[in-house]
Formats: sequence, C-alpha cells, structure tokens
Amino acid sequence: MTEVIETQEAPAAATNRYGVPAILLHWTSVALIVFVGALGLCFGLIPRSSRLFWINIHAVVGLAVLILAVLRIVWRLRHGAPDYPEGTPALTRRLSGPAHWLLYALMVVLPLVGIVAYVWHARVFDFGLFKVNFGIASNKPVYEAAEEIHEFLAFSLFGLAGLHGLAALWHRFVRKDGLMERMLPWGRA
Ligand code: HEM
Ligand code: HEM
Repeated sequence: MTEVIETQEAPAAATNRYGVPAILLHWTSVALIVFVGALGLCFGLIPRSSRLFWINIHAVVGLAVLILAVLRIVWRLRHGAPDYPEGTPALTRRLSGPAHWLLYALMVVLPLVGIVAYVWHARVFDFGLFKVNFGIASNKPVYEAAEEIHEFLAFSLFGLAGLHGLAALWHRFVRKDGLMERMLPWGRA
C-alpha cells in the first residue's frame, strides 16, 4: 500500500503547468484559427464558382473555434492558471493576464460577428448531414458592416496572437525559464 503512495506524483507538480484539457484546447484552437484565418485571407483568390463552398467551410470551422473558446474559458474560470515560474519579470506578470483575456474575447466576438455577416447575407450553414437556414433576408448594410468589423477583429487577433507567440518563443529560447513548457504537451512540470 505504502509503495503505491510513494510512486504517485507530488500534488505540487500539477500546479505549475496547464492541465491536459487546456493544452489540447489551446493547440487545437491555434491550428483551427490558422486554417480559418488563412482561408479568409484567400477568399479573393478563389474562383467564384467554388467561393460559396469555401465560405461555408470557413463558417463551419469558425463555429468550432467559437465552441472551443467557450469550453476553454469555462475550463480557465474553474481551474485558473498555474503560478508563474520563479523570476518571471514583473512586466510579463502584469501584461500576460489582460493579453490572454483579450485573446479569449477575440476568439468569441470574432466568430459571433462572422455569424452576423453570414446570416444577414442570407447564407445557409451546410454541415454535410444537415443544413441550418435562419431564413433572414439579405441585408447589404448589415452584412457589409459586419464584414468590416469581422475583418478588423481578425487582423487584431492575428496581431495579438503573433505577439503572444513571439513572447512565448522568447521565454523558450532566450530566457529559458520554463514558461512555454507549461503549455507544451511534452513539457515537464
Ligand atoms: C476564429 C475564427 C475566424 C477567423 C480567424 C476568421 C477570419 C476571417 C478573415 C481573415 C476574413 C477575410 C477578411 C477580409 O480580408 O475581407 C473573413 C471573412 C469572412 N468570415 Fe470569417 N473568420 C472566423 C470565423 C468566422 C465565422 C464563425 C463566420 C460565420 C459563421 C465567418 C464568416 C465570414 C464571412 C461571411 C466573411 C466574408 C466573406 C466574403 O468575402 O463574402 N467567419 N474571416
Ligand atoms: C491563434 C493563436 C493563439 C491564440 C488564440 C492563443 C491563445 C492563448 C490564450 C488565451 C492563452 C491563455 C491561457 C490561460 O491562461 O487561460 C494562451 C497561453 C499560452 N500560449 Fe497561446 N495562443 C495562440 C498561439 C500561441 C503560439 C503560436 C504559441 C507558441 C509559440 C503559444 C504559446 C502559449 C503559451 C506558452 C501559453 C501559456 C502562457 C503562460 O504560461 O502564461 N500560443 N494562449
């Protein structure tokens, strides 16, 4: 019985890195955002005949980003974030919280505005097995305004996420303080 207790991981080891659900949700959302964002930037290059197909793919995968973001926020509110590694600069401590919450906000608001741009353009969600049609008449002033806001929010997300990724790499390769390992599946506690 005592042997079992001795081989168990110390509880403290679990508190200085993100849990498996947070890590899975983080990297899956990153991959989906890169895909959806790149697709959005390519709309102008796609021939008219297949553009509607790809806008639907963009919308459906974008909805997945929204669902994952909501799950991540719920997980984050329930579990908090791990403590910073010792010696983390005051500036990092002060900036990272607001920056992370701004990223979460963009991951929710950007798809929501995309839904407005999509639905008020009388577009139908095609999920393969079934379709969802809100039956709202096309309204140019609404969908054009929503597209503008969606574009602005998308570039804001790309900019902030780019800075955030660079900051993580700086911790990994310059400071080597173990901060990035907290979010890597193979990182050590
Ligand atoms: C994280 C998720 C998303 C990202 C990163 C993203 C990104 C983008 C980008 C970069 C564009 C091109 C903007 C431009 O240069 O004009 C775009 C356009 C668009 N997106 Fe999204 N988007 C996301 C989610 C969604 C969702 C969930 C919907 C709808 C349900 C949506 C609907 C649209 C529509 C309707 C357009 C305009 C397409 C057109 O030109 O007709 N997006 N998006
Ligand atoms: C679309 C791109 C990205 C988004 C939306 C995003 C979003 C987020 C968010 C919201 C958090 C906060 C987690 C929390 O405390 O609840 C986070 C943490 C983190 N992200 Fe990202 N991320 C992105 C890309 C990246 C990239 C490219 C890297 C690495 C090169 C990265 C590395 C990290 C690390 C290391 C943490 C943990 C930070 C800490 O321990 O304080 N992220 N990310």
